[in-house]
Amino acid sequence: MADAPGLGPGGETRGGSSPSGRTQLQGGHITTNIVINPNGPIRIEGEFTLVDAEGTAFGLGGRSRITLCRCGHSANKPFCDGAHAREGFREAAVARDLPPRPGS
Ligand code: FES
Repeated sequence: MADAPGLGPGGETRGGSSPSGRTQLQGGHITTNIVINPNGPIRIEGEFTLVDAEGTAFGLGGRSRITLCRCGHSANKPFCDGAHAREGFREAAVARDLPPRPGS
């Protein structure tokens, strides 16, 4: 029987966990962390697939951690290339609640 997608024979995540150690199994489910870095990119780590609007997957070269540009200055969008620092991008990215979804 094949292993569950993303799990090794011992239940560990395939592809390695992030250096931060935040990739975890919780109740048998793989977690993916999305971190909005202050003044910088969106970091995604764990088990995920990044696809374009047509559903075609980006080849990530085995990476389990990537950063996506949110400043608009990267020459390698959607990935961060560090231009945010050169351009002086500033946005605190403090967690907050969204208003209730209309109709809910
Ligand atoms: S957030 Fe890093 S280049 Fe845009």
